[in-house]
Amino acid sequence: MADLGTATIRWPHRGFGRMSLVDSTEWSIDGGGWRSGSVSVECRSSSGRLEFGDDEGMTADARNQPVRTLDEQLAETWDQLARAVRDGKHEWHLPVVSTVGLDGSPEARTVVLRGVDPVDRLLVFNTDRRSRKPNELEVDGRMAWTFYERRDRVQLRVSGPTTIHADDEIADRAWEATALSSRRCYMAPHAPTSRLEAWDPNLPEGLSASSPDRAASELGRANFMTVRTRIDRLERLELHHDGHLRALWQWKDDGTVDVSWLAP
Ligand SMILES: Cc1cc2nc3c(=O)[nH]c(=O)nc-3n(C[C@H](O)[C@H](O)[C@H](O)COP(=O)(O)O)c2cc1C
Repeated sequence: MADLGTATIRWPHRGFGRMSLVDSTEWSIDGGGWRSGSVSVECRSSSGRLEFGDDEGMTADARNQPVRTLDEQLAETWDQLARAVRDGKHEWHLPVVSTVGLDGSPEARTVVLRGVDPVDRLLVFNTDRRSRKPNELEVDGRMAWTFYERRDRVQLRVSGPTTIHADDEIADRAWEATALSSRRCYMAPHAPTSRLEAWDPNLPEGLSASSPDRAASELGRANFMTVRTRIDRLERLELHHDGHLRALWQWKDDGTVDVSWLAP
């Protein structure tokens, strides 16, 4: 098909997209359905194809509603975090957590968000106790979490003192809630990050394509631990074409919170 050209289309206050017209003689845009930068375009064409590209960068939509209060933003943040625990497709399901490495360098890696508690202000993930994170956290218990969600274009930067739980009731409860498919990871013969002479799937024997049964999975318990950050700082940035929203919550030891807008 010949490419008959490319056009940039703009909607007032809604960013822009690119449109390629390919071998078309007749088309119309029925429009609509946009929210936070995703624009759905319906195209009717007798013989052609219309391709639409949405700008994924900083050119987010304008707000089509009044600026929400800081309280509303915080409540929405807790709701979304709780949803992200349950919904593997929610982009906040896979945050990046950062530690101070043993040599003082920053270390960052992706994890699965396993729990959120808005009352105690906790974020939780599970890990292999043989990995590097627990050692780092024992030396310096500070951890930073970074989340980004593309649909609503919200970044969270969260930090606070972090505790590791390997042999207590907290760890037992987390292990009980861990699916058999995930338990398999803790049965890996090699400690995470061990150097290998050759590629090795690092899966328990006989379980390269299946989950262990419950009894067999108990072998993984010895390597399992859960990690909890008590949030004392939460920064939220929401991108909009006509002015980003950025705010900071900082909790003090007595439970009170300082809240402030930040310059985006
Ligand atoms: C999508 C994804 C999810 C992951 N989830 C976890 C997790 O929940 N816990 C974990 O310890 N590692 C998880 N990892 C692996 C870590 O990113 C990291 O490679 C590993 O934990 C070793 O990190 P460390 O050497 O800094 O301890 C995940 C990786 C990816 C790509």
